[in-house]
Amino acid sequence: MNLTVKNEKLNKWLKEVADLCQPEDVYLCNGSREEYDLLIENMLKSGSAVPLRKRPDSFLFRSDPSDVARVEDRTYISASSKEDAGPTNNWIDPGELKKTMLDFYKGCMKGRTMYVIPFSMGPVGSPISKIGIEVTDSPNVVINMHIMTRVSSRVLELLSTDGEFIPCLHSVGAPLSEGQKDVPWPCAPIENKYISHFPEENLIWSYGSGYGGNALLGKKCLALRIASAMAKREGWMAEHMLILRLTNPEGKQYHIAAAFPSACGKTNLAMMQPSIPGWKCECIGDDIAWMKTGPDGRLYAINPEAGFFGVAPGTSYDTNPMAMDTLKENVLFTNCALTDDGDVWWEGMTDEEPSHVIDWKGRDWTPDSTGDAAHPNARFTAPASQCPATCKDWEKPEGVPIDIFIFGGRRSAVAPLVYEAYNRDHGVFLGATAASETTAANIGAVGNLRRDPFAMKPFCGYNMGDYFQHWFDMGDRLGDKTPRIFYVNWFRKSGDGKFLWPGFSDNSRVLKWMCERIDGKVGAKQTPIGLLPNEGDIDLSGLDISPDDMKELLSIDIDAWKAEIPDIEQHFSIFGDRLPERLKRQLREFVKRLG
Ligand code: OXD
Ligand code: MN
Repeated sequence: MNLTVKNEKLNKWLKEVADLCQPEDVYLCNGSREEYDLLIENMLKSGSAVPLRKRPDSFLFRSDPSDVARVEDRTYISASSKEDAGPTNNWIDPGELKKTMLDFYKGCMKGRTMYVIPFSMGPVGSPISKIGIEVTDSPNVVINMHIMTRVSSRVLELLSTDGEFIPCLHSVGAPLSEGQKDVPWPCAPIENKYISHFPEENLIWSYGSGYGGNALLGKKCLALRIASAMAKREGWMAEHMLILRLTNPEGKQYHIAAAFPSACGKTNLAMMQPSIPGWKCECIGDDIAWMKTGPDGRLYAINPEAGFFGVAPGTSYDTNPMAMDTLKENVLFTNCALTDDGDVWWEGMTDEEPSHVIDWKGRDWTPDSTGDAAHPNARFTAPASQCPATCKDWEKPEGVPIDIFIFGGRRSAVAPLVYEAYNRDHGVFLGATAASETTAANIGAVGNLRRDPFAMKPFCGYNMGDYFQHWFDMGDRLGDKTPRIFYVNWFRKSGDGKFLWPGFSDNSRVLKWMCERIDGKVGAKQTPIGLLPNEGDIDLSGLDISPDDMKELLSIDIDAWKAEIPDIEQHFSIFGDRLPERLKRQLREFVKRLG
Protein backbone atom coordinates (compact mmCIF):
# COMPACT_ATOMS: atom_id res chain seq x y z
CA MET A 1 0.00 0.00 0.00
CA ASN A 2 1.46 3.34 -1.08
CA LEU A 3 -0.37 5.42 1.51
CA THR A 4 1.10 6.69 4.73
CA VAL A 5 -0.59 8.85 7.33
CA LYS A 6 0.85 10.40 10.47
CA ASN A 7 -1.31 8.47 12.93
CA GLU A 8 0.52 5.26 13.84
CA LYS A 9 -2.54 3.22 14.75
CA LEU A 10 -4.32 4.29 11.58
CA ASN A 11 -1.32 3.47 9.44
CA LYS A 12 -1.11 0.00 10.89
CA TRP A 13 -4.84 -0.62 10.48
CA LEU A 14 -4.92 0.61 6.87
CA LYS A 15 -2.01 -1.61 6.00
CA GLU A 16 -3.68 -4.63 7.59
CA VAL A 17 -6.93 -3.92 5.77
CA ALA A 18 -5.23 -3.43 2.41
CA ASP A 19 -3.27 -6.68 2.86
CA LEU A 20 -6.46 -8.50 3.75
CA CYS A 21 -8.84 -7.06 1.16
CA GLN A 22 -6.32 -6.79 -1.68
CA PRO A 23 -7.73 -3.76 -3.50
CA GLU A 24 -6.37 -2.72 -6.88
CA ASP A 25 -5.48 0.67 -5.43
CA VAL A 26 -5.98 2.83 -2.37
CA TYR A 27 -7.33 6.37 -2.34
CA LEU A 28 -7.33 8.76 0.61
CA CYS A 29 -10.40 11.01 0.53
CA ASN A 30 -10.14 14.72 1.30
CA GLY A 31 -13.84 15.61 1.23
CA SER A 32 -13.48 18.22 -1.52
CA ARG A 33 -16.08 19.09 -4.11
CA GLU A 34 -13.62 18.07 -6.85
CA GLU A 35 -13.34 14.62 -5.32
CA TYR A 36 -17.14 14.30 -5.14
CA ASP A 37 -17.55 15.48 -8.74
CA LEU A 38 -14.89 13.11 -9.99
CA LEU A 39 -16.47 10.11 -8.30
CA ILE A 40 -19.86 11.03 -9.75
CA GLU A 41 -18.30 11.42 -13.18
CA ASN A 42 -16.89 7.90 -12.91
CA MET A 43 -20.26 6.55 -11.80
CA LEU A 44 -21.98 8.31 -14.70
CA LYS A 45 -19.50 6.68 -17.07
CA SER A 46 -20.03 3.25 -15.56
CA GLY A 47 -23.80 3.72 -15.71
CA SER A 48 -24.43 3.35 -11.97
CA ALA A 49 -25.47 7.03 -11.63
CA VAL A 50 -28.32 8.47 -13.68
CA PRO A 51 -28.22 12.28 -14.16
CA LEU A 52 -31.42 14.20 -13.47
CA ARG A 53 -32.06 16.94 -16.02
CA LYS A 54 -34.59 18.62 -13.75
CA ARG A 55 -32.38 18.91 -10.66
CA PRO A 56 -28.90 20.41 -10.96
CA ASP A 57 -26.08 18.24 -9.63
CA SER A 58 -28.49 15.50 -8.60
CA PHE A 59 -28.33 11.84 -9.47
CA LEU A 60 -30.38 8.69 -9.20
CA PHE A 61 -29.01 5.32 -8.18
CA ARG A 62 -30.83 2.00 -8.37
CA SER A 63 -29.80 -0.63 -5.89
CA ASP A 64 -29.79 -4.33 -6.43
CA PRO A 65 -33.37 -5.47 -5.67
CA SER A 66 -32.05 -7.61 -2.80
CA ASP A 67 -30.25 -4.68 -1.13
CA VAL A 68 -32.93 -2.13 -0.29
CA ALA A 69 -32.92 -1.53 3.49
CA ARG A 70 -31.16 -2.13 6.75
CA VAL A 71 -30.81 -5.82 7.55
CA GLU A 72 -31.57 -6.15 11.25
CA ASP A 73 -31.40 -9.95 11.10
CA ARG A 74 -27.82 -9.71 9.86
CA THR A 75 -26.76 -7.01 12.36
CA TYR A 76 -24.60 -8.13 15.30
CA ILE A 77 -23.50 -6.68 18.60
CA SER A 78 -20.48 -8.79 19.24
CA ALA A 79 -19.69 -8.07 22.89
CA SER A 80 -17.53 -10.67 24.59
CA SER A 81 -20.55 -12.06 26.42
CA LYS A 82 -24.00 -12.67 24.96
CA GLU A 83 -25.55 -11.11 28.08
CA ASP A 84 -23.77 -7.83 27.38
CA ALA A 85 -25.32 -7.70 23.90
CA GLY A 86 -28.68 -8.48 25.49
CA PRO A 87 -31.85 -10.13 24.24
CA THR A 88 -32.74 -7.53 21.61
CA ASN A 89 -29.49 -7.89 19.67
CA ASN A 90 -28.08 -10.68 17.53
CA TRP A 91 -24.88 -11.97 19.00
CA ILE A 92 -21.98 -14.09 17.82
CA ASP A 93 -18.83 -14.57 19.86
CA PRO A 94 -16.32 -11.93 18.65
CA GLY A 95 -13.59 -14.50 17.92
CA GLU A 96 -15.95 -16.63 15.85
CA LEU A 97 -17.52 -13.68 14.05
CA LYS A 98 -14.15 -12.20 13.18
CA LYS A 99 -12.99 -15.55 11.84
CA THR A 100 -16.05 -15.84 9.60
CA MET A 101 -15.79 -12.27 8.42
CA LEU A 102 -12.04 -12.41 7.83
CA ASP A 103 -12.71 -15.24 5.38
CA PHE A 104 -15.16 -13.00 3.55
CA TYR A 105 -12.87 -9.97 3.66
CA LYS A 106 -9.93 -11.93 2.22
CA GLY A 107 -9.49 -10.57 -1.31
CA CYS A 108 -12.95 -8.96 -1.23
CA MET A 109 -11.75 -5.69 -2.83
CA LYS A 110 -9.97 -7.32 -5.77
CA GLY A 111 -10.37 -5.21 -8.88
CA ARG A 112 -11.70 -2.28 -6.85
CA THR A 113 -10.37 0.88 -5.24
CA MET A 114 -10.17 1.01 -1.47
CA TYR A 115 -11.32 4.45 -0.35
CA VAL A 116 -10.20 5.76 3.03
CA ILE A 117 -12.70 8.27 4.41
CA PRO A 118 -11.65 10.41 7.38
CA PHE A 119 -14.86 11.80 8.88
CA SER A 120 -16.13 13.60 11.92
CA MET A 121 -19.49 12.99 13.54
CA GLY A 122 -20.32 16.42 14.89
CA PRO A 123 -18.51 19.64 13.96
CA VAL A 124 -14.82 19.02 13.23
CA GLY A 125 -12.88 19.68 16.41
CA SER A 126 -15.90 19.99 18.75
CA PRO A 127 -15.32 18.30 22.12
CA ILE A 128 -18.54 16.29 21.63
CA SER A 129 -17.53 15.06 18.17
CA LYS A 130 -16.06 11.67 17.37
CA ILE A 131 -13.71 10.79 14.56
CA GLY A 132 -14.26 7.76 12.37
CA ILE A 133 -12.27 6.33 9.49
CA GLU A 134 -14.37 4.37 7.03
CA VAL A 135 -12.59 2.14 4.59
CA THR A 136 -14.87 1.13 1.74
CA ASP A 137 -14.74 -0.23 -1.79
CA SER A 138 -17.92 1.62 -2.78
CA PRO A 139 -17.67 5.05 -4.45
CA ASN A 140 -21.40 5.40 -3.79
CA VAL A 141 -20.69 5.17 -0.06
CA VAL A 142 -17.99 7.84 -0.40
CA ILE A 143 -20.30 10.40 -1.99
CA ASN A 144 -23.08 9.66 0.51
CA MET A 145 -20.60 10.01 3.38
CA HIS A 146 -19.53 13.37 1.90
CA ILE A 147 -23.08 14.59 2.50
CA MET A 148 -24.00 12.74 5.68
CA THR A 149 -20.80 13.38 7.66
CA ARG A 150 -17.95 15.89 7.66
CA VAL A 151 -15.31 14.29 5.45
CA SER A 152 -12.13 16.33 5.54
CA SER A 153 -8.33 16.23 5.60
CA ARG A 154 -8.61 18.31 8.75
CA VAL A 155 -9.84 15.19 10.49
CA LEU A 156 -6.48 13.53 9.85
CA GLU A 157 -4.68 16.63 11.07
CA LEU A 158 -6.72 16.47 14.27
CA LEU A 159 -5.86 12.80 14.67
CA SER A 160 -2.23 13.79 14.56
CA THR A 161 0.15 10.97 15.53
CA ASP A 162 -1.81 9.37 18.34
CA GLY A 163 -5.45 10.58 18.32
CA GLU A 164 -8.33 8.15 18.79
CA PHE A 165 -10.63 7.13 15.94
CA ILE A 166 -13.34 4.56 15.35
CA PRO A 167 -12.29 2.15 12.59
CA CYS A 168 -15.18 1.32 10.24
CA LEU A 169 -14.45 -1.35 7.66
CA HIS A 170 -16.89 -1.74 4.79
CA SER A 171 -16.96 -3.84 1.67
CA VAL A 172 -19.79 -4.51 -0.73
CA GLY A 173 -18.45 -8.05 -0.90
CA ALA A 174 -18.20 -8.35 -4.67
CA PRO A 175 -14.58 -8.73 -5.81
CA LEU A 176 -13.95 -8.43 -9.54
CA SER A 177 -11.82 -10.95 -11.32
CA GLU A 178 -9.48 -9.91 -14.13
CA GLY A 179 -11.56 -8.35 -16.93
CA GLN A 180 -14.91 -8.93 -15.15
CA LYS A 181 -17.45 -6.20 -15.87
CA ASP A 182 -18.90 -4.53 -12.80
CA VAL A 183 -22.64 -4.30 -12.11
CA PRO A 184 -24.34 -0.98 -11.22
CA TRP A 185 -24.90 -1.97 -7.57
CA PRO A 186 -22.50 -4.66 -6.39
CA CYS A 187 -23.40 -6.48 -3.16
CA ALA A 188 -23.35 -9.94 -1.60
CA PRO A 189 -26.32 -12.27 -1.11
CA ILE A 190 -28.31 -11.74 2.09
CA GLU A 191 -26.86 -14.77 3.87
CA ASN A 192 -23.35 -13.35 3.44
CA LYS A 193 -24.17 -9.89 4.73
CA TYR A 194 -22.84 -8.96 8.17
CA ILE A 195 -23.22 -5.62 9.91
CA SER A 196 -21.04 -6.18 12.95
CA HIS A 197 -20.15 -4.10 15.95
CA PHE A 198 -17.49 -4.82 18.54
CA PRO A 199 -18.50 -2.27 21.19
CA GLU A 200 -15.68 -3.08 23.62
CA GLU A 201 -13.15 -2.18 20.91
CA ASN A 202 -15.17 0.63 19.27
CA LEU A 203 -14.88 -1.29 16.02
CA ILE A 204 -17.29 -1.70 13.08
CA TRP A 205 -17.11 -4.34 10.35
CA SER A 206 -19.72 -4.30 7.62
CA TYR A 207 -19.80 -6.68 4.69
CA GLY A 208 -22.04 -7.36 1.74
CA SER A 209 -24.48 -4.42 1.55
CA GLY A 210 -24.16 -1.01 -0.07
CA TYR A 211 -27.44 0.40 1.27
CA GLY A 212 -27.92 3.22 3.79
CA GLY A 213 -27.34 2.35 7.42
CA ASN A 214 -25.66 -0.94 6.45
CA ALA A 215 -22.93 0.90 4.58
CA LEU A 216 -22.79 4.58 5.62
CA LEU A 217 -21.13 3.53 8.84
CA GLY A 218 -21.12 6.94 10.52
CA LYS A 219 -24.88 6.81 10.92
CA LYS A 220 -26.51 3.85 12.67
CA CYS A 221 -23.32 1.86 13.32
CA LEU A 222 -21.14 4.62 14.79
CA ALA A 223 -23.48 7.42 15.88
CA LEU A 224 -25.98 5.04 17.48
CA ARG A 225 -24.73 1.51 18.18
CA ILE A 226 -21.09 2.22 19.07
CA ALA A 227 -21.88 5.69 20.46
CA SER A 228 -24.66 4.36 22.71
CA ALA A 229 -22.18 1.93 24.28
CA MET A 230 -19.61 4.72 24.69
CA ALA A 231 -22.28 7.02 26.11
CA LYS A 232 -23.24 4.44 28.72
CA ARG A 233 -19.59 4.08 29.75
CA GLU A 234 -18.96 7.83 29.75
CA GLY A 235 -22.26 9.17 31.14
CA TRP A 236 -23.92 10.80 28.14
CA MET A 237 -26.65 9.79 25.65
CA ALA A 238 -26.71 8.76 21.99
CA GLU A 239 -30.34 8.57 20.89
CA HIS A 240 -32.42 7.92 17.77
CA MET A 241 -33.98 11.36 18.04
CA LEU A 242 -34.69 14.38 15.90
CA ILE A 243 -33.87 17.76 17.41
CA LEU A 244 -35.95 20.87 16.74
CA ARG A 245 -36.29 24.39 18.04
CA LEU A 246 -39.77 25.78 18.54
CA THR A 247 -40.20 29.50 19.14
CA ASN A 248 -43.47 30.89 20.48
CA PRO A 249 -44.98 34.24 19.41
CA GLU A 250 -43.29 35.94 22.39
CA GLY A 251 -39.89 34.70 21.17
CA LYS A 252 -39.38 32.04 23.84
CA GLN A 253 -37.42 29.05 22.54
CA TYR A 254 -38.09 25.42 23.35
CA HIS A 255 -35.85 22.59 22.22
CA ILE A 256 -37.44 19.24 21.59
CA ALA A 257 -35.83 15.84 21.02
CA ALA A 258 -38.17 13.16 19.71
CA ALA A 259 -37.66 9.43 19.24
CA PHE A 260 -39.82 7.63 16.70
CA PRO A 261 -38.95 4.40 14.92
CA SER A 262 -37.61 4.48 11.37
CA ALA A 263 -40.00 5.84 8.74
CA CYS A 264 -42.48 7.21 11.32
CA GLY A 265 -42.12 10.87 10.41
CA LYS A 266 -39.02 12.13 12.25
CA THR A 267 -37.84 14.05 9.18
CA ASN A 268 -41.31 15.54 8.69
CA LEU A 269 -41.56 16.69 12.30
CA ALA A 270 -37.99 18.01 12.33
CA MET A 271 -38.77 20.26 9.34
CA MET A 272 -42.36 21.02 10.23
CA GLN A 273 -43.72 24.52 9.58
CA PRO A 274 -46.37 25.24 12.25
CA SER A 275 -49.92 25.84 11.11
CA ILE A 276 -50.57 27.94 14.22
CA PRO A 277 -49.83 31.61 13.65
CA GLY A 278 -46.78 33.15 15.28
CA TRP A 279 -45.00 29.86 16.09
CA LYS A 280 -41.76 28.99 14.35
CA CYS A 281 -40.03 25.64 14.02
CA GLU A 282 -36.40 25.10 13.00
CA CYS A 283 -34.55 21.90 12.33
CA ILE A 284 -31.36 20.93 14.13
CA GLY A 285 -31.35 17.24 13.25
CA ASP A 286 -33.73 14.64 11.86
CA ASP A 287 -32.41 11.32 13.12
CA ILE A 288 -29.73 11.26 15.82
CA ALA A 289 -29.04 13.27 18.98
CA TRP A 290 -25.92 13.14 21.12
CA MET A 291 -26.62 14.69 24.49
CA LYS A 292 -24.41 15.71 27.40
CA THR A 293 -25.01 17.66 30.57
CA GLY A 294 -23.82 21.24 30.28
CA PRO A 295 -22.23 23.51 32.89
CA ASP A 296 -25.71 24.65 34.01
CA GLY A 297 -26.78 21.06 34.67
CA ARG A 298 -29.14 20.93 31.69
CA LEU A 299 -28.97 18.41 28.87
CA TYR A 300 -27.44 19.75 25.64
CA ALA A 301 -27.93 18.05 22.26
CA ILE A 302 -25.97 18.10 19.02
CA ASN A 303 -26.79 16.48 15.72
CA PRO A 304 -23.73 14.42 14.83
CA GLU A 305 -24.72 14.21 11.16
CA ALA A 306 -24.33 16.72 8.34
CA GLY A 307 -27.11 15.61 6.01
CA PHE A 308 -30.48 13.94 5.72
CA PHE A 309 -30.91 10.38 4.55
CA GLY A 310 -34.67 10.62 4.37
CA VAL A 311 -37.42 8.30 3.21
CA ALA A 312 -38.69 9.72 -0.09
CA PRO A 313 -42.16 8.12 -0.52
CA GLY A 314 -44.82 10.23 1.15
CA THR A 315 -42.67 13.38 0.99
CA SER A 316 -44.48 16.18 -0.86
CA TYR A 317 -45.16 19.91 -0.76
CA ASP A 318 -48.20 19.06 1.39
CA THR A 319 -46.44 16.85 3.91
CA ASN A 320 -42.97 18.37 4.06
CA PRO A 321 -42.38 21.49 1.93
CA MET A 322 -39.05 22.15 3.61
CA ALA A 323 -37.72 18.74 2.56
CA MET A 324 -38.98 19.33 -0.98
CA ASP A 325 -37.12 22.65 -1.07
CA THR A 326 -34.01 20.91 0.26
CA LEU A 327 -34.13 18.50 -2.65
CA LYS A 328 -33.84 21.00 -5.48
CA GLU A 329 -30.13 20.42 -6.17
CA ASN A 330 -27.06 18.52 -4.93
CA VAL A 331 -29.06 15.46 -3.99
CA LEU A 332 -28.42 11.75 -4.31
CA PHE A 333 -31.58 9.71 -4.79
CA THR A 334 -31.71 5.97 -4.32
CA ASN A 335 -34.47 3.70 -5.62
CA CYS A 336 -36.80 6.49 -6.70
CA ALA A 337 -38.60 6.35 -10.04
CA LEU A 338 -37.30 8.30 -13.06
CA THR A 339 -39.75 10.47 -15.02
CA ASP A 340 -39.65 10.89 -18.78
CA ASP A 341 -38.44 14.49 -18.44
CA GLY A 342 -35.50 13.52 -16.26
CA ASP A 343 -36.80 14.03 -12.74
CA VAL A 344 -37.38 11.71 -9.81
CA TRP A 345 -40.81 10.67 -8.61
CA TRP A 346 -42.18 8.61 -5.76
CA GLU A 347 -45.54 7.56 -4.41
CA GLY A 348 -47.18 10.47 -2.59
CA MET A 349 -45.02 13.17 -4.20
CA THR A 350 -47.82 14.57 -6.37
CA ASP A 351 -51.62 14.36 -6.34
CA GLU A 352 -51.57 12.85 -9.78
CA GLU A 353 -49.40 9.93 -10.74
CA PRO A 354 -47.24 10.40 -13.83
CA SER A 355 -48.54 8.47 -16.82
CA HIS A 356 -45.17 6.80 -17.33
CA VAL A 357 -41.92 6.44 -15.39
CA ILE A 358 -39.01 4.04 -15.14
CA ASP A 359 -39.47 2.25 -11.83
CA TRP A 360 -36.80 1.65 -9.19
CA LYS A 361 -35.91 -1.62 -10.87
CA GLY A 362 -35.35 0.13 -14.21
CA ARG A 363 -38.56 -1.11 -15.86
CA ASP A 364 -41.36 0.80 -17.58
CA TRP A 365 -44.12 1.67 -15.13
CA THR A 366 -47.58 3.18 -15.61
CA PRO A 367 -50.38 3.66 -13.07
CA ASP A 368 -51.77 0.31 -14.27
CA SER A 369 -48.59 -1.54 -13.38
CA THR A 370 -48.54 -3.75 -10.33
CA GLY A 371 -46.08 -2.71 -7.67
CA ASP A 372 -44.62 0.59 -6.62
CA ALA A 373 -42.74 2.93 -8.95
CA ALA A 374 -40.35 3.93 -6.16
CA HIS A 375 -39.30 1.42 -3.52
CA PRO A 376 -41.12 2.17 -0.20
CA ASN A 377 -37.69 2.68 1.39
CA ALA A 378 -36.38 4.87 -1.47
CA ARG A 379 -34.20 7.61 -0.03
CA PHE A 380 -32.76 11.05 -0.63
CA THR A 381 -29.35 12.11 0.64
CA ALA A 382 -29.15 15.89 0.97
CA PRO A 383 -26.95 18.37 2.86
CA ALA A 384 -28.61 19.72 6.02
CA SER A 385 -27.20 23.15 5.23
CA GLN A 386 -29.45 23.52 2.18
CA CYS A 387 -32.72 22.95 4.08
CA PRO A 388 -34.58 26.26 4.48
CA ALA A 389 -35.80 25.09 7.91
CA THR A 390 -32.30 24.42 9.23
CA CYS A 391 -31.62 26.42 12.38
CA LYS A 392 -28.68 28.84 12.32
CA ASP A 393 -27.42 27.22 15.52
CA TRP A 394 -27.47 23.66 14.18
CA GLU A 395 -23.68 23.34 14.27
CA LYS A 396 -23.14 25.03 17.64
CA PRO A 397 -20.47 22.83 19.21
CA GLU A 398 -22.03 23.03 22.66
CA GLY A 399 -25.47 22.00 21.34
CA VAL A 400 -28.91 23.23 22.39
CA PRO A 401 -30.59 22.70 25.79
CA ILE A 402 -33.39 20.15 25.60
CA ASP A 403 -36.71 21.01 27.30
CA ILE A 404 -38.91 18.20 26.03
CA PHE A 405 -38.51 14.54 25.11
CA ILE A 406 -41.14 12.91 22.94
CA PHE A 407 -41.56 9.19 22.39
CA GLY A 408 -44.01 7.64 20.01
CA GLY A 409 -44.72 5.35 17.17
CA ARG A 410 -47.16 4.41 14.51
CA ARG A 411 -50.29 2.84 15.99
CA SER A 412 -53.66 2.71 14.31
CA ALA A 413 -55.37 2.07 17.65
CA VAL A 414 -55.02 2.23 21.44
CA ALA A 415 -52.45 5.06 21.92
CA PRO A 416 -54.02 8.54 22.06
CA LEU A 417 -52.75 11.61 20.22
CA VAL A 418 -50.70 12.84 23.16
CA TYR A 419 -50.13 12.35 26.85
CA GLU A 420 -47.54 13.36 29.38
CA ALA A 421 -45.61 11.18 31.81
CA TYR A 422 -46.41 11.62 35.49
CA ASN A 423 -42.73 11.90 36.39
CA ARG A 424 -39.25 10.93 35.22
CA ASP A 425 -39.56 7.24 36.07
CA HIS A 426 -42.92 7.07 34.36
CA GLY A 427 -41.31 8.77 31.35
CA VAL A 428 -38.69 6.03 31.20
CA PHE A 429 -41.53 3.48 31.36
CA LEU A 430 -43.23 5.18 28.39
CA GLY A 431 -39.98 5.06 26.41
CA ALA A 432 -39.28 1.47 27.41
CA THR A 433 -42.73 0.25 26.35
CA ALA A 434 -43.05 2.29 23.14
CA ALA A 435 -44.65 0.24 20.39
CA SER A 436 -45.00 0.79 16.68
CA GLU A 437 -46.16 -0.90 13.53
CA THR A 438 -43.12 -1.94 11.48
CA THR A 439 -42.14 -0.09 8.29
CA ALA A 440 -40.10 -0.69 5.13
CA ALA A 441 -36.94 0.86 6.63
CA ASN A 442 -35.88 -2.64 7.66
CA ILE A 443 -36.08 -5.76 5.53
CA GLY A 444 -38.93 -7.78 7.01
CA ALA A 445 -42.70 -7.82 7.34
CA VAL A 446 -44.38 -4.40 7.33
CA GLY A 447 -47.24 -3.44 9.65
CA ASN A 448 -46.67 -5.79 12.60
CA LEU A 449 -46.79 -4.26 16.04
CA ARG A 450 -43.47 -4.45 17.82
CA ARG A 451 -42.12 -2.97 21.03
CA ASP A 452 -39.40 -0.57 20.00
CA PRO A 453 -38.11 0.94 23.25
CA PHE A 454 -37.00 4.55 22.77
CA ALA A 455 -37.02 3.73 18.99
CA MET A 456 -33.64 2.16 19.76
CA LYS A 457 -34.37 -1.56 19.39
CA PRO A 458 -32.29 -1.86 16.21
CA PHE A 459 -29.68 0.64 17.37
CA CYS A 460 -28.73 -0.02 21.00
CA GLY A 461 -25.15 -1.27 21.11
CA TYR A 462 -25.45 -3.13 24.42
CA ASN A 463 -27.94 -4.87 26.70
CA MET A 464 -31.14 -2.88 26.53
CA GLY A 465 -31.91 -3.64 30.19
CA ASP A 466 -28.73 -1.72 31.06
CA TYR A 467 -29.78 0.98 28.61
CA PHE A 468 -33.06 1.42 30.54
CA GLN A 469 -30.99 1.77 33.71
CA HIS A 470 -28.83 4.37 31.95
CA TRP A 471 -31.95 6.44 31.34
CA PHE A 472 -32.77 6.30 35.07
CA ASP A 473 -29.17 7.22 35.93
CA MET A 474 -29.16 10.18 33.55
CA GLY A 475 -32.51 11.31 34.98
CA ASP A 476 -31.11 11.08 38.52
CA ARG A 477 -28.14 13.16 37.48
CA LEU A 478 -30.29 15.79 35.75
CA GLY A 479 -32.87 15.90 38.54
CA ASP A 480 -35.42 18.65 38.01
CA LYS A 481 -33.52 19.69 34.87
CA THR A 482 -34.60 16.47 33.13
CA PRO A 483 -36.62 17.33 30.02
CA ARG A 484 -40.35 16.74 30.47
CA ILE A 485 -41.50 13.55 28.77
CA PHE A 486 -44.48 13.12 26.42
CA TYR A 487 -45.82 10.32 24.22
CA VAL A 488 -47.51 10.96 20.88
CA ASN A 489 -49.29 8.97 18.20
CA TRP A 490 -50.06 10.84 14.98
CA PHE A 491 -51.36 7.69 13.32
CA ARG A 492 -54.56 6.71 15.12
CA LYS A 493 -57.31 5.61 12.76
CA SER A 494 -61.08 5.59 12.94
CA GLY A 495 -63.13 2.41 12.65
CA ASP A 496 -63.34 2.94 8.89
CA GLY A 497 -59.54 3.10 8.54
CA LYS A 498 -59.08 6.87 8.10
CA PHE A 499 -56.39 8.82 9.95
CA LEU A 500 -58.12 10.84 12.67
CA TRP A 501 -55.44 13.52 13.02
CA PRO A 502 -54.24 15.62 10.06
CA GLY A 503 -50.62 15.48 11.26
CA PHE A 504 -47.70 17.33 9.63
CA SER A 505 -47.91 21.10 10.22
CA ASP A 506 -50.87 20.57 12.57
CA ASN A 507 -48.62 18.60 14.89
CA SER A 508 -47.48 22.07 16.00
CA ARG A 509 -50.76 22.22 17.94
CA VAL A 510 -49.66 19.27 20.03
CA LEU A 511 -46.18 20.72 20.53
CA LYS A 512 -47.75 24.00 21.63
CA TRP A 513 -49.71 22.12 24.30
CA MET A 514 -46.44 20.59 25.55
CA CYS A 515 -44.80 24.04 25.77
CA GLU A 516 -47.80 25.36 27.65
CA ARG A 517 -47.59 22.40 30.01
CA ILE A 518 -43.98 23.15 30.89
CA ASP A 519 -44.79 26.82 31.32
CA GLY A 520 -47.63 25.87 33.68
CA LYS A 521 -50.19 27.58 31.45
CA VAL A 522 -52.48 24.56 31.07
CA GLY A 523 -53.51 21.74 33.33
CA ALA A 524 -53.99 18.09 32.44
CA LYS A 525 -56.33 15.23 33.19
CA GLN A 526 -55.00 12.36 35.28
CA THR A 527 -55.70 9.04 33.61
CA PRO A 528 -54.29 5.55 34.18
CA ILE A 529 -51.87 5.94 31.25
CA GLY A 530 -50.65 9.48 32.02
CA LEU A 531 -51.66 13.13 31.85
CA LEU A 532 -54.00 13.94 28.99
CA PRO A 533 -54.97 17.35 27.61
CA ASN A 534 -58.09 18.87 29.10
CA GLU A 535 -60.82 19.48 26.60
CA GLY A 536 -60.18 22.69 24.70
CA ASP A 537 -56.51 22.96 25.67
CA ILE A 538 -55.14 21.85 22.32
CA ASP A 539 -55.33 24.86 20.04
CA LEU A 540 -57.62 23.81 17.16
CA SER A 541 -58.25 27.28 15.76
CA GLY A 542 -58.52 27.23 12.00
CA LEU A 543 -58.55 23.43 11.90
CA ASP A 544 -61.47 21.54 10.48
CA ILE A 545 -61.69 18.56 12.79
CA SER A 546 -64.92 17.20 14.23
CA PRO A 547 -65.42 17.14 18.01
CA ASP A 548 -66.11 13.39 17.69
CA ASP A 549 -62.77 12.75 16.01
CA MET A 550 -61.02 14.84 18.63
CA LYS A 551 -62.76 12.90 21.36
CA GLU A 552 -61.68 9.62 19.82
CA LEU A 553 -58.10 10.86 19.43
CA LEU A 554 -57.92 11.55 23.14
CA SER A 555 -59.99 8.62 24.32
CA ILE A 556 -58.61 5.79 26.42
CA ASP A 557 -60.03 2.33 26.13
CA ILE A 558 -59.18 0.77 29.49
CA ASP A 559 -59.83 -2.75 28.22
CA ALA A 560 -57.53 -2.26 25.27
CA TRP A 561 -54.79 -1.01 27.61
CA LYS A 562 -55.40 -3.95 29.97
CA ALA A 563 -55.00 -6.22 26.98
CA GLU A 564 -51.51 -4.72 26.47
CA ILE A 565 -50.29 -5.83 29.88
CA PRO A 566 -49.35 -9.44 28.97
CA ASP A 567 -47.42 -8.09 25.99
CA ILE A 568 -45.54 -5.58 28.17
CA GLU A 569 -44.85 -8.32 30.73
CA GLN A 570 -43.53 -10.55 27.99
CA HIS A 571 -41.45 -7.68 26.56
CA PHE A 572 -39.94 -6.97 30.00
CA SER A 573 -39.40 -10.64 30.87
CA ILE A 574 -36.72 -11.10 28.21
CA PHE A 575 -34.38 -8.80 30.13
CA GLY A 576 -34.32 -11.08 33.20
CA ASP A 577 -32.26 -9.61 36.01
CA ARG A 578 -31.05 -6.77 33.79
CA LEU A 579 -34.53 -5.22 33.96
CA PRO A 580 -34.32 -2.27 36.37
CA GLU A 581 -36.38 -2.62 39.52
CA ARG A 582 -37.77 0.85 38.84
CA LEU A 583 -39.36 -0.35 35.60
CA LYS A 584 -40.99 -3.28 37.37
CA ARG A 585 -42.43 -0.83 39.88
CA GLN A 586 -43.74 1.36 37.05
CA LEU A 587 -45.48 -1.63 35.52
CA ARG A 588 -47.06 -2.59 38.86
CA GLU A 589 -48.31 0.96 39.33
CA PHE A 590 -49.66 1.05 35.79
CA VAL A 591 -51.58 -2.19 36.34
CA LYS A 592 -52.96 -0.79 39.60
CA ARG A 593 -54.09 2.44 37.92
CA LEU A 594 -55.89 0.46 35.22
CA GLY A 595 -57.84 -1.24 38.02
C1 OXD B 1 -32.88 5.67 9.11
C2 OXD B 1 -33.54 4.55 9.79
O1 OXD B 1 -32.40 5.53 7.98
O2 OXD B 1 -33.89 4.69 10.96
O3 OXD B 1 -32.80 6.73 9.75
O4 OXD B 1 -33.73 3.49 9.16
MN1 MN C 1 -33.37 6.59 11.79
